[in-house]
Amino acid sequence: MNNPSQNNASRSANIEDRKIIIAIDGYSSTGKSTIAKAIARKLNYLYVDTGAMYRAVTLFCIQNNLIDSAGKVSDKLKSMLGDINIEFRKNGEIADTYLNGCNVEKEIRSIEVANQVSIVSAIPEVRDLLVKQQQLIGKRKGVVMDGRDIGTVVFPDAELKIFMTAAPHIRADRRFSELKAKGSRVNRDEVQRNLEERDYIDTHREHSPLKQAADAVILDNSNMTPEEQVEWLYNKVKELGE
Ligand code: DC
Repeated sequence: MNNPSQNNASRSANIEDRKIIIAIDGYSSTGKSTIAKAIARKLNYLYVDTGAMYRAVTLFCIQNNLIDSAGKVSDKLKSMLGDINIEFRKNGEIADTYLNGCNVEKEIRSIEVANQVSIVSAIPEVRDLLVKQQQLIGKRKGVVMDGRDIGTVVFPDAELKIFMTAAPHIRADRRFSELKAKGSRVNRDEVQRNLEERDYIDTHREHSPLKQAADAVILDNSNMTPEEQVEWLYNKVKELGE
């Protein structure tokens, strides 16, 4: 007899077996990582937070005094790129970011790093290095990767590309609550200014600017709960198998 729940189970197993690449791009604080993590868990895929990689390089620059007070990154960084080792290590359910063997998950989320990361991530040599590492990880397929250039540069052939957006004031509110919950004493206007500045630099930089891939599907989540977004994305994945 036909058991519908069994059909659902075998269909999702097929999706997992097929192992596609899901590329999620979009503006800062649109909730990319929340939905990317949730869909990766649902499909038993690997989740890769590429923003964390750019943040880790930025932290490396701060630790080594490579950014001057005018926000200029020293050319020395280029010869030091070989000294940067970034890993994701599982600590229970979640994977933390490690820089040269140290857990830097908390530090890379600081406002200090957020204020400098767009400048560091605009450096072509930094992008080349990280894009190569991301492509290597993607070879195994069954990967959900979020960032700014995943569908355009890292995996232009990804089977599913999502471009996430939300109203600017909603994004600032979300980021502010997130930082406050983590104990950061930040000011909401500063958070909004940082988001606006990052949007500007991310979309205007010469190398791999943030832009929607022609074949990406837009997800405007201004008025959606995380559960609704995961459901929406899961349906997109299922549609690929039909
Ligand atoms: O997703 P996030 O806010 O953690 O990303 C931090 C910064 O890194 C963001 O301002 C732009 C940059 N970034 C990038 O240039 N390319 C990516 N694939 C991911 C992030």
